Amino acid sequence: ALKMVTIGGGSSYTPELIEGYIKRKDQLPIKEIWLVDIPAGEEKLNIVGHMAKRMVKAAGLDWEVHLTLNRREALQDADFVSTQFRVGLMQARIKDERIPGSYGFLGQETNGAGGIFKAFRTVPVILDIVKDMKECCPDAWLINFTNPSGMITEAIQTYGKWDKVIGLCNVPVMAMMTEPALIGKQLKDLTYKFAGIDHFHWHRVFDNTGREVTMDIVAKMYEGDAGLPKNIFNVQFFREQLEQMKMIPCGYHRYYYREQEMLDHSLEEFKGEGTRAQQVMRIEKELFDLYKDPNLDYKPKQLAERGGAHYSDAACEAIASIYADKRTHMVVSTLNRGAVPDLPTDHVVEVSAQVGAAGAIPLTFGHFQPAERGWLQLMKNMELVIDEAAVTGDYGLALQAFTMNPMIRSGQKAKDLLDEMLVANKQHLPQF
Ligand code: NAD
Ligand code: G6P
Ligand code: MN
Ligand code: MN
Repeated sequence: ALKMVTIGGGSSYTPELIEGYIKRKDQLPIKEIWLVDIPAGEEKLNIVGHMAKRMVKAAGLDWEVHLTLNRREALQDADFVSTQFRVGLMQARIKDERIPGSYGFLGQETNGAGGIFKAFRTVPVILDIVKDMKECCPDAWLINFTNPSGMITEAIQTYGKWDKVIGLCNVPVMAMMTEPALIGKQLKDLTYKFAGIDHFHWHRVFDNTGREVTMDIVAKMYEGDAGLPKNIFNVQFFREQLEQMKMIPCGYHRYYYREQEMLDHSLEEFKGEGTRAQQVMRIEKELFDLYKDPNLDYKPKQLAERGGAHYSDAACEAIASIYADKRTHMVVSTLNRGAVPDLPTDHVVEVSAQVGAAGAIPLTFGHFQPAERGWLQLMKNMELVIDEAAVTGDYGLALQAFTMNPMIRSGQKAKDLLDEMLVANKQHLPQF
């Protein structure tokens, strides 16, 4: 019987996770689900936790759902641990957007100075969790979503020395859910190949005769949102650029390929609807009001307004694939092992992989053309600098990360921004 633990259990996404477990009840002999949070999240944990209990009951299952603030108690003898927490809560996310914006740079949850600081706040916490896992559940699998998901998974591998980890994101899931229909196909008749790093990957697609259909999808992509998560404003990619690339970039690439327009849009939004963090806080309020309803025992449709829709379902699929050795194709953050030869073999990439009892086995993607190779090498090496700065608290390294980040123009302003963000995040940065 399985013991499942979710750290950051008070998240509004938890009902999707429970729904994902319920869908797979025949594949997963679950006995206990432990939802862990911190005192600041206790109210949310209680509301969403009782909703989870109702969902399990409505499904006719006898799973125990435990709500706790005691992480080590939850981790004791766990089989699967998933992480979906937000250090500093939404207040920190507002600062990640507002402060860079005030310097004329784009700050976003996982990109620009905002993403760097989310990593700085999160790395010490995830390494503490790994330390607890070594003592409480040394054989457990860790399924990480906590953003920036790729950098956090890298820190778990490189600094936590924990190999049984898989990093996940919903962006590839959404692409595979929506693109086949654009060309009148079904996913089961297509082969997808993804490679890159989290929120910075590309993919190619082939049909069941082996013909590449990537550019057929590109031709249709311009007609709509093609699986773009709700949180990303749709500035279209330049068509000539994609025709040269012959690959489909992920939704987040527009922060780099159309940086000016994305920045302008974001600064414009700040004046009206506010930051994405503030928009999400309003969606969350609506969601938690629904979760409080003692008659609600299913995932409400409003959750689809969140950018991370379908991500918890991906977690459940990864868990079921490991447990039942399903050898499913999934796009995961895992050790490269040569699958992406343009990146170091012993670091984390986000890549198509076979997921089964042995964990994720990455599928070889091959070399990129110079333009994409250049971007990717810059971004991956920047991630390594960010993680090292997050672990050591080295100011010079933090400045190096800011200098490398394409969304931060180097110079005195960049250094002033770094200093201001260090002060604004002080209580969550014990390492600096
Ligand atoms: P949220 O603000 O609702 O936070 C989730 C919970 O984490 C809260 O209840 C909070 O109290 C709790 N928390 C904060 N610090 C904690 C700690 N040290 N230990 C345990 N719990 C703690 O966040 P959310 O919007 O649900 O997102 C959760 C996380 O998942 C974020 O890091 C977000 O970026 C990430 N996310 C990732 C993906 C993906 O594609 N990988 C998709 C969606 C969300
Ligand atoms: C998805 C990403 C996540 C991100 C989320 C933001 O695009 O894959 O990594 O955290 O959406 O969604 P939100 O609703 O919080 O803005
Ligand atoms: Mn993501
Ligand atoms: Mn820079």
